[in-house]
Amino acid sequence: MSTKLLALLAGAAVFTARPLRDRLQLSRAKHRSLTGHARLARRVARLVPYYGFGEQAFFASDGAPADVVARRRAGFARLADHYRTRFAATAELTDTVIDAVSDLQFTSAYRVPFQYSRFVREQLKPGAFARSSSGVTITDLDDNRFFDLTGSYGVNVFGYDFYKECIEAGVDRVRDLGPVLGPYHPVLAENVEHLRRISGLDEVSFHMSGTEAVMQAVRLARYHTNRSHLVRFCGAYHGWWGDVQPGVGNPLPARETYTLEDMNEASLRVLRRRRDIACVLVNPLQALHPNRAAPGDSSLVAARPSGTVSREAYARWLRSLRDVCTDRGIPLVFDEVFTGFRLAPGGAQEYFGVRADLVTYGKTLGGGLPVGVLCGRHELMKRYREDRPADICFARGTFNSHPYVMGAMNEFLRRLDTPRVRAVYRDLEGVWEARAMALNERLRAEALPVAFAALSSIWTTLYTQPSRYHWLLQYYLRAEGLALSWVGTGRLIFSLDYTEQDFEAVAERIVAAARAMREDGWWWQPAGATAGTIRKRIFRELLAQRR
Ligand SMILES: Cc1ncc(COP(=O)(O)O)c(C=O)c1O
Repeated sequence: MSTKLLALLAGAAVFTARPLRDRLQLSRAKHRSLTGHARLARRVARLVPYYGFGEQAFFASDGAPADVVARRRAGFARLADHYRTRFAATAELTDTVIDAVSDLQFTSAYRVPFQYSRFVREQLKPGAFARSSSGVTITDLDDNRFFDLTGSYGVNVFGYDFYKECIEAGVDRVRDLGPVLGPYHPVLAENVEHLRRISGLDEVSFHMSGTEAVMQAVRLARYHTNRSHLVRFCGAYHGWWGDVQPGVGNPLPARETYTLEDMNEASLRVLRRRRDIACVLVNPLQALHPNRAAPGDSSLVAARPSGTVSREAYARWLRSLRDVCTDRGIPLVFDEVFTGFRLAPGGAQEYFGVRADLVTYGKTLGGGLPVGVLCGRHELMKRYREDRPADICFARGTFNSHPYVMGAMNEFLRRLDTPRVRAVYRDLEGVWEARAMALNERLRAEALPVAFAALSSIWTTLYTQPSRYHWLLQYYLRAEGLALSWVGTGRLIFSLDYTEQDFEAVAERIVAAARAMREDGWWWQPAGATAGTIRKRIFRELLAQRR
């Protein structure tokens, strides 16, 4: 080989070595699950064919013998009868709108695994309407009062009455200005001061939703770093904007997003090396289930593994992220849309003892009205450059800083400083941990295959044995007077005004629902059944459909 050719090859090797190494490093930092491989997950999702269990297969999809099937049939008939009589008016109004409300069609269809969904929708109609709320309860159109475990998607931190008062007091405060947009109502100035103190950051921008606050955080990070990619961690939810939802659910691939494995040194290596990372997004709620998506019953096909890590372990991970981001000049963004004001007055920053450069808030901060907020350091929040006036980072939103939202937020923020609310936060962690432990002990004592993992007041239901029917528990819980959101037993969200007495009533009902489910035969399992054998069975069903 000529020396010229050798030199050329050596040059080419040097030229390609770095990209190759970067790619390898990136691959190693991906979680091994499909959730960790967004593109592949989208491709696989497109291959899954529909099939549904009819009246026969519905009760025996796990191969249960005739006597168990008979128990299940009788139990299901009782449950369906209960739903038909107790939720009649609520279900009737729901039926009149469902064909015209796309969101309702989606949430109804995806409450349970798709194979069972159609039959369940025909037989068990919980209804989608409510008439009133009071204390920790919601009342439907049939006058059934449910203990609320939905937490209104996390908005309800202090109880529904609290937010009704925030909205009323807030409206009173801004009434004279009314719906004027553009000029700010003076309460905004006070809100900004509160938010600067709470976040420990310099500037604030107001948006209409959590999704928009996240969009703005990422856009600003890209603008100031001049880099393209955002890093998010496997399974973390940051709203429904395309770049933060690269997997199933988004019709397009997110080309400027890296999805890395949470709590893994390999991810830190990627952050240390790559030069195209504009920011790192963290949803601290992932401490409850690192690397897994928010658990919902529609994907509960066999088991729901527990993955909770300790507060200390997650705090350690956040500290290591903080250090790498500081070293590499990468803005660290905490998405506190869910955890803000819930885990502690200062949210996850306070709870885990780690500070971010940009922090998003939303949900509860609107005092019951829709909002998204971004707080950040001066140099990251600035939307223009003094020395290049045409190079701007644009962000608007017609309804940003709406006076009514600012009014309700103002009341919310003022109340945070009252002795009543301060008292709610005292030993918050201990209270909810003790409640979860006591309930788990009760379930264990009765050998019921249900347990709860908790991150303070945010709970997820685990199952201590595999089964294809765990998702049905949400319907038994509702029959016992417990309201869950459409993701079912995956997420229970308590408001912090739950008294011991309220909680005791909820615990009683959970145990009663689990007992009924067991008595009706749904937790029968064949000898030697594991989550793996159930998944194999489902896989065979899928293959049979594709033939
Ligand atoms: C952590 C997190 N970020 C962002 C969002 C999106 O907020 P919104 O639904 O207000 O757009 C959510 C909503 O659940 C969230 O939990």
